[in-house]
Amino acid sequence: METNKIYCIDNIAGMSQLGNNTVQLILTSPPYADMRKYQDFKGIHPDKYVDWFLPIGKEIFRILNDGGSFVLNINDKVVNGFRHTYVFSLVLELEKLGFNLWERFFWNKPNPMPGMGGKRFRDATEYIFWFSKGKPYVDMKSVKVPSITHSKNKIGRPEFEMSRSGSNFTKRETSERFPDMVVPLNVLTIKLGNSYKTAGNHPAIFPEQIPEFFIKSATKKGDLVLDPFSGSGTTCLVAKKLERQYIGFDITEEYVQNSNRRLSE
Ligand SMILES: C[S@@+](CC[C@H](N)C(=O)[O-])C[C@H]1O[C@@H](n2cnc3c(N)ncnc32)[C@H](O)[C@@H]1O
Repeated sequence: METNKIYCIDNIAGMSQLGNNTVQLILTSPPYADMRKYQDFKGIHPDKYVDWFLPIGKEIFRILNDGGSFVLNINDKVVNGFRHTYVFSLVLELEKLGFNLWERFFWNKPNPMPGMGGKRFRDATEYIFWFSKGKPYVDMKSVKVPSITHSKNKIGRPEFEMSRSGSNFTKRETSERFPDMVVPLNVLTIKLGNSYKTAGNHPAIFPEQIPEFFIKSATKKGDLVLDPFSGSGTTCLVAKKLERQYIGFDITEEYVQNSNRRLSE
C-alpha cells in the first residue's frame, strides 16, 4: 500500500493490506459511540461499542511496530442520567489484546460546548490514552515546554511543580537548578478550533495541536503514522508538516476528497 495517501476504505479492509509491525504510530479519534452522525456512519450504541471496536484494535496491534504507539482520543457520554463506562471497558479489553497503557492524558478544553442547563457539570475534558506495543519510543525533548518557575502568578503552574521550599530541587528534571524547558503535564489545554473553513464540512475535527504533540513525541522524521478514522485528515496533515509518512482511512468519499484538498494546499 502506498504511503502519503488517504484512502476511502473501511479501516479493517485498509489495515488488512498492511504487514505486521509496519506502523510506528496509530493516532485516531474514532466516533464516540452514537454522539454524532457522520455521512456514512450513523453511530453505535455504547453497549455495543467494545464489540464493535475490538476487531479494529486487533488489526491495530498487529500492524504496530514493536515500540510503536497507539494514541486513542475518545470520550464517553451520559446515558439515562449516568456516565456510560464503555470507554473504561474498552481500555481493559485493549490491554487483553496485548497493548500496554503507557500514559493517559486529559484534553482540557477551555472553550467547551454549551452545558445542559444546570443539570450536569459542563463537560470540558476528553480522554487521550497512549498505548504501546512493548516499551514505547518516546522523544520527551520534542514536547518540552517553557518553565514558568519564575512567574509571579504561581497559581495553576501548568508546566512545573515547585518543591515546598520553592527551590524545586527535589522535583527538578535536569541537573540544572532552574531549567528553561521542562517536561509537560499529562493535561493538554487546547482550545476547540474552528477549522471548518479549511477542513470542509466535517462535524468532528480535532485541533492540529493534538496530533502535533503525539507525532512529535512518539515518532521520528520519516516514520509512518496512520489514522484509521481520518475524517477531515488532520492527523495526516500534521504528519506531512512534521515530515513523517502517513496513511489515512475514512469511509466517506466527501471527507477523503476534502482531506486530499487540505493536504495539497
Ligand atoms: C471523529 S471522526 C474523525 C475526525 C478527525 N480526527 C478530524 O480531525 O477530522 C471519525 C471518522 O470515522 C469515520 N469512520 C467511521 N467508521 C469507519 C470505518 N469503519 N472505517 C473508516 N472510517 C470510519 C467517519 O466517517 C468519521 O469521519
